[in-house]
Amino acid sequence: MAKSVLVLGLQWGDEGKGKLVDLLTEQAELVVRFQGGHNAGHTLIIGDEKTVLHLVPSGILRDKVHCVIGNGVVVSPEALFEEMEMLTKRGVPVEERLSISGACPLILPLHIALDQAREIAAGKDAIGTTGRGIGPAYQDKVARRALRIQDLFDLERFDEKLDSLYAHHSSNLERHSVETTSLDAMKEMAREYAKRLLPLVGDVPGMIDSYRKQGKRVLFEGAQGTLLDVDHGTYPFVTSSNTVAGAACSGSGCGPNAIEYVLGIAKAYTTRVGAGPFPTELFDEAGKELGERGHEFGATTGRQRRCGWFDAPAVKRACIINGVTGICVTKLDVMDTLKTVKICTAYKLDGVEIDVPPLGADALAKCEPVYEEMPGWQAQTEGVTDYAKLPTVAVAYLERLEELVGVPVHMVSTGPERNQNVIVELPFA
Ligand code: GDP
Ligand code: IMO
Ligand code: MG
Repeated sequence: MAKSVLVLGLQWGDEGKGKLVDLLTEQAELVVRFQGGHNAGHTLIIGDEKTVLHLVPSGILRDKVHCVIGNGVVVSPEALFEEMEMLTKRGVPVEERLSISGACPLILPLHIALDQAREIAAGKDAIGTTGRGIGPAYQDKVARRALRIQDLFDLERFDEKLDSLYAHHSSNLERHSVETTSLDAMKEMAREYAKRLLPLVGDVPGMIDSYRKQGKRVLFEGAQGTLLDVDHGTYPFVTSSNTVAGAACSGSGCGPNAIEYVLGIAKAYTTRVGAGPFPTELFDEAGKELGERGHEFGATTGRQRRCGWFDAPAVKRACIINGVTGICVTKLDVMDTLKTVKICTAYKLDGVEIDVPPLGADALAKCEPVYEEMPGWQAQTEGVTDYAKLPTVAVAYLERLEELVGVPVHMVSTGPERNQNVIVELPFA
């Protein structure tokens, strides 16, 4: 009986994590974000209302659910305020439901400017980042010069640290001819940050511990996906944080025994936004159909997502790295119209067949997928909530994925709305 569940992505992000977190918070009392920042875009659809969250955990729409942003998240105050205002306008009492760790590094305008300038300078080698300053902010964190939310408690010291930070980045900003907020203006902005952020600061490790001791259910919400992890992903075409299960502990302040169930989210096919190798990418009609039917446009940047077939070796590896308990296959309905479906079961690399993805982007770029082909089900799975009502061929597809990946499918998402799911086994049983 799991009291704490971790939801994370098994591919290159956008698997439908937000939808599942929103659904599962019906049974949880605390939701914890632990890495990434406002590069994430998590979509929640409840009836006719669509909500896209970037920083605020996907439990925010529920009464009686508290949401926390853990130390592993890099926080852009502007992005957070904008999101809070959007929620407040809709009548969500966000201030009452949200706490933030004082240890979160701040994303300042200079990080955003640096991220964007570096991408332009990289030309054809650009990563295709979201341009949100994520990489530069994490760089400052590990270099031990970041300004953190807790620094706002002492604004005089904050200003001194800000002077050093600006001095450190000045040559880079000049080299890239980047305009950013002036030091004086930044100091002014920090006063506003302090006013609005400090009331939200809370003891996140203490909160998780106390909820758990009271037997309350806790849900950890991953951002991005395993193939974007800075260590385990398709480096260097990755994000700058660890997106894997282990990061839930370090990014929030709890031990591994605080995570009792890991729900891995995988789309029934694959998508990727930004640059980097993608062995099963499609450039044909099937790819177009997936993109169109799946509305595959980024929830953060609006960029068109690249689409391809399900990559079983990559998802199998992701399940191992994350210790996945059960999988939720999402967007099965998007494939309803396909005449033929393919699953990548292995790769060919330099003439040799392998079923473990090679490390790094260069070798993966050389991999050719080995496919297994099945007839499409060409019947409606959209909105189906009963396993017995899924078309036999779609069930065969799911069973084949399960077999190849080595982890049971516990849930299937059959549409974007909160209640469009087939539930085999609920994580919070
Ligand atoms: P996240 O980043 O993992 O939270 O995923 P995103 O919100 O970026 O992208 C997933 C998109 O697919 C969103 O537009 C969701 O509304 C939508 N979605 C989620 N699950 C399903 C599903 O089962 N079927 C369909 N058709 N859409 C889905
Ligand atoms: P969610 O949580 C999909 C991708 C970017 C780029 C790379 C690095 O919605 O699944 P960054 O701005 O993080 O330095 O960009 O990572 N990326 C995502 N792709 N979903 C996301 O988040 C992503 N967050 C970052 O497109 O390729
Ligand atoms: Mg997303």
